[in-house]
Amino acid sequence: MSSEEIKILAIESSCDETAAAVVVNGRDLRSNVISTQIPLHTLYGGVVPEIASRKHIERINQVVEQALDDADMGLEDIDAIAVTYGPGLVGALLVGVAEAKAIAFAANKPLIGVHHIEGHISANYIENKDLKPPFLCLVVSGGHTHLVRVVDYGQYEILGRTRDDAAGEAFDKVARAIGLGYPGGPKIEKAAKEGNPEAMAFTRPKVSDGIYDFSFSGLKSQVLNYINMAQMKGEKVSQADVAASFQQTVIDTLCLHAEMAIDEFKMDKFAIAGGVASNQTLRAAMEDMCKRKGVEFYHPSPILCTDNAAMIGAAAYYEYMAGRRDGWDLNAVPNLKLGER
Ligand code: KG4
Ligand code: ZN
Repeated sequence: MSSEEIKILAIESSCDETAAAVVVNGRDLRSNVISTQIPLHTLYGGVVPEIASRKHIERINQVVEQALDDADMGLEDIDAIAVTYGPGLVGALLVGVAEAKAIAFAANKPLIGVHHIEGHISANYIENKDLKPPFLCLVVSGGHTHLVRVVDYGQYEILGRTRDDAAGEAFDKVARAIGLGYPGGPKIEKAAKEGNPEAMAFTRPKVSDGIYDFSFSGLKSQVLNYINMAQMKGEKVSQADVAASFQQTVIDTLCLHAEMAIDEFKMDKFAIAGGVASNQTLRAAMEDMCKRKGVEFYHPSPILCTDNAAMIGAAAYYEYMAGRRDGWDLNAVPNLKLGER
């Protein structure tokens, strides 16, 4: 029945993607527009915050209009406006927050601020209509590595997080070190296909006082040391072997932590999310592990793994149903913690 349909227009601009989407009842994706700035930032070897903000300003109106057009809707059809308000780059976040506030104010619609990681987790709801909490979720992106117990909609218990570099950040840094450029994740994945994952014995990073926590900067240093040593000895470094061995070490670490949490908390559902979750080798490893343990495995399509607004619309629906609304004082919070308001 159409009266039961909650249509949310969602906006995402926390990093280098300007995105808008229309999502109905948190699961039904009606449009998903993503304007990526990756080619622009590639020139500088990484995201330049000032350029990101400026590009968001240039593109956001058009992206929002496109999302409404693609959904065949006007603002009058929309029940609420959702926007990522943190964490992320402050200048980038501000563009989306200002846009969402302006639209919500002008059209007299409720406004809902969404946590970016809650968005990544909720990306799983769109293509897995049967997925409901509780489940375990591994969020692996350029800015975050979180192992999260999704207790209920909007209720999260963080079991582990990175102490230093995020998994995606490690992919980006190692890619730069071996001359593959930005963004590192997809380039390492491609190079790794030609390499031997056992060529170099990188040790799996461990954190002594937090079994579920991650630390990837030591692994990055191991790779850099290996390259420096090889160069000093005049040996040729195989990009493909370094990529494959590094990738395998990251995957083994992520799998091991997920498996320990599945055992300890007796989880029967496991989901992955975030840009790194689009890595096919990582997916295959997680799927194998879940099969072996009799655990249901969920993952979003690659386009819903990297930053997008559809996931923000999915998360916002459950916030909306829980009665959450934000005021005109909603602001960008670059260091927003999951579960904090
Ligand atoms: O989720 P996302 O788009 O942005 C953040 O919220 O950070 O994630 C971007 C990160 C980048 O570090 C990128 O290198 C990584 O995800 N990534 C990948 C792959 N595709 C993107 N890492 C490994 N394999 C991939 N195929
Ligand atoms: Zn993200």
